[in-house]
Amino acid sequence: MAKQTVKDLDVRGKRVIVRVDFNVPRKNGVITDDNRIQAALPTINYLVENGAKIILMSHLGKVDHKDPEKCEADKKKNDMAPVAVRLAELVDTKVTFVPVTRGAELENAVAALKDGEIVLMQNTRYEKGESKNDPELSKYWASLGDLYVSDAFGSVHRAHATTAGIPSILPSALGFLVEKEVTALTKAIDNPARPLVAVLGGAKVSDKIAVIENLMKIADKIIIGGGMAYTFKVAQGQTVGDSLLEQDKVELAKDFLARANGKIVLPVDTNATTEFSEETESKVFEGDIPAGWQGLDIGPKSIELFKKELEGAKTVVWNGPMGVFEMAKYATGTIEVCKAISALPGAYTVIGGGDSASAAKNLGFGDKFSHISTGGGASLEFMEGKELPGIAVIQDK
Ligand code: 3PG
Repeated sequence: MAKQTVKDLDVRGKRVIVRVDFNVPRKNGVITDDNRIQAALPTINYLVENGAKIILMSHLGKVDHKDPEKCEADKKKNDMAPVAVRLAELVDTKVTFVPVTRGAELENAVAALKDGEIVLMQNTRYEKGESKNDPELSKYWASLGDLYVSDAFGSVHRAHATTAGIPSILPSALGFLVEKEVTALTKAIDNPARPLVAVLGGAKVSDKIAVIENLMKIADKIIIGGGMAYTFKVAQGQTVGDSLLEQDKVELAKDFLARANGKIVLPVDTNATTEFSEETESKVFEGDIPAGWQGLDIGPKSIELFKKELEGAKTVVWNGPMGVFEMAKYATGTIEVCKAISALPGAYTVIGGGDSASAAKNLGFGDKFSHISTGGGASLEFMEGKELPGIAVIQDK
């Protein structure tokens, strides 16, 4: 890789700002999945072992700075304190949590750091200027450190103060997580063993336009399921009843189908019901879905078709569930596709973060894939072939 990595920096005794992605899911303030904290440990432990003074920065959730009342509520909801507690359980050094994002308390905590110790700053989005990549804020935060390490793969698609502003000021390098993610995704997208089969799902075509566009150039097959498939069904001249439909994307879907030369594989049947609920009767429809019914999962024939299309694949990238997998009754398509991908002999299999990553992990397939990305939006933008600002800004070797 042409970018410097943390191993290229002389970190001993230096104040090293590490942008991590500790944007972890929580329920009633309790962390429900600490995977992103765990994923940052190789870099953190390396810095601890090599005597750096570590300053960790991360966002957590979103903070609305337009409405003062909402801003206060968001800050309360997205306080980084519970993350510091979990981090302290996972590392073998002192962790000091600083509940503010600027001022004497933060500066004193950094000044008091001994080699190998950690300061975790409050949620970076407490500052309005973070998401705007505000130059003054970047300059202030950069003044707290000597070096910068980018290890927040989930956030490298954002040009924010902590992902792009600080590293444009300080000597910078990639952390081990970003290095690992880039290597894995590059192997799948830039230089794949063929055939390369992409499996796309999720609710909307509009979220996946750029990725479909890029995959049309590089994939051998693009399997499309989930809510986005209904827009394609309408493009094929079928009716979809009350299923998710982006009417304004039907022409685009037609254009994709016309240019795909048979590369795009769509569901041939749908498991539908009359309300967005597990309680109402479900029925499988082949072709048209009648009025009053909405598709919530792919049907059994689609599962068989998708399995067949996956046979022999040497690289698979998967992004997006096949149906409403949060409802057990409509999780079958996602489960079966997940099983089929994970059982492919000798294939390099990558899940691009987000819902499909949680689906695979919740279903117990977490260790059956070659790589599960920690980035949802970031891995999608990588697969779109876009330059990621949080990586582009890092110094070359
Ligand atoms: C994510 O969860 O995808 C990352 O942490 C980025 O979060 P964001 O979409 O709020 O910038």
